[in-house]
Amino acid sequence: MQTTQLTASDLSPLTPAYDSILALAPYQTGKPIEELTREYGVSDVVKLASNENPMGCSPRVTLAVTEQLGQLSRYPDGNGYYLKQALADFNDVNANQITLGNGSDDLLDILARSFVGADDAIVYSQYAFVVYPMLAKMQGATGIEVPAQRFGHNLKAMSQAVQDNPNTKIVFIANPNNPTGTQLEKKELRQFVAGVPSSVLVVLDEAYIEYSPESNNRALLDEFDNVIIVRTFSKAYGLAGLRVGYALSSVAVADLLNRIRQPFNVSRVGLAAAAAALADQDFIEKTRLINDEQMRWLEKQFDALGLGFVKSHANFIMVEVQVEMEDITAASIHQALLEQGVIVRPLDAYGLPNWLRITVGLAEDNLRLIDTLRSILTED
Ligand SMILES: Cc1ncc(COP(=O)(O)O)c(C=O)c1O
Repeated sequence: MQTTQLTASDLSPLTPAYDSILALAPYQTGKPIEELTREYGVSDVVKLASNENPMGCSPRVTLAVTEQLGQLSRYPDGNGYYLKQALADFNDVNANQITLGNGSDDLLDILARSFVGADDAIVYSQYAFVVYPMLAKMQGATGIEVPAQRFGHNLKAMSQAVQDNPNTKIVFIANPNNPTGTQLEKKELRQFVAGVPSSVLVVLDEAYIEYSPESNNRALLDEFDNVIIVRTFSKAYGLAGLRVGYALSSVAVADLLNRIRQPFNVSRVGLAAAAAALADQDFIEKTRLINDEQMRWLEKQFDALGLGFVKSHANFIMVEVQVEMEDITAASIHQALLEQGVIVRPLDAYGLPNWLRITVGLAEDNLRLIDTLRSILTED
């Protein structure tokens, strides 16, 4: 979508709640397959742009979704009783510590709306998930971006930023991080949380946790009431199209979030599908194994092509594709890939214009990507 900067005069005499809303750039999603087919007439499209599960989802989900089809005229259970019970067992928490969301984006939004006002600040890392600075702008709050360290979170500097800004209400930490794929040491993260005032919420965004079980920081919840863990069914569980996420927190925080969320924010189909997906951990295990194997293969191919990459702990990998001598840029490679039916994600919006983020696909998808990339790079 092509967008231009919105100004106050475009809206006049209407005014947005905060001036910072005018500075918001719309979230850039991965290009849908249908759009590429429409624009370039390519039919055999490989989408490696949105960190979706290339294996689809568990077959159990199909059955659960089918069972709901006769009930679509009925509202969903606004409390998501069965899904919460299943999540409570799975995560060893009480059901009243859970908030369900229309994807985890919904939960990040609910958190910002619940805790952050115009005089407050949100702290996040450079090169972290792009939604965090957007939430600061939406709330008219101050967004404090802390410079990254080797493409990951610099927790010492983030701790300092919290200290320097006593109006900080939320610190967002993506672990593993999108788009860089970096992961934090458990010990270092615990130390960070222990040093943050208990009035500051530490939101651990674990959207890619299934790909990196060692990044599971569920244990911090028992120790710190100001820790919130946000997870999603969109990635390894393969339900991005249905929009289901959840947050684990203290009972009091969950109580607040549940007052702020829309009463039916997760659909009837979404609730049933997520419960069925959670029950099939063999599918998750298989997903992780295939992802690991394909990630190693891609790393080898990038090495062979002489392209730099950042070691990733998730289901995507960030590759440096600027070839200055030959006037090849990430933007030109992105475009050439699109024209040949391969969708990857440019990272200009993250301040990484020389890099592309590539979701790990199935073997045949990855082979197609590498063959296409090689032909672009070696073209006269
Ligand atoms: C780190 C991170 N958090 C949250 C999300 C939001 O995912 P969803 O709203 O589909 O659960 C994403 C999606 O890309 C992500 O990468």
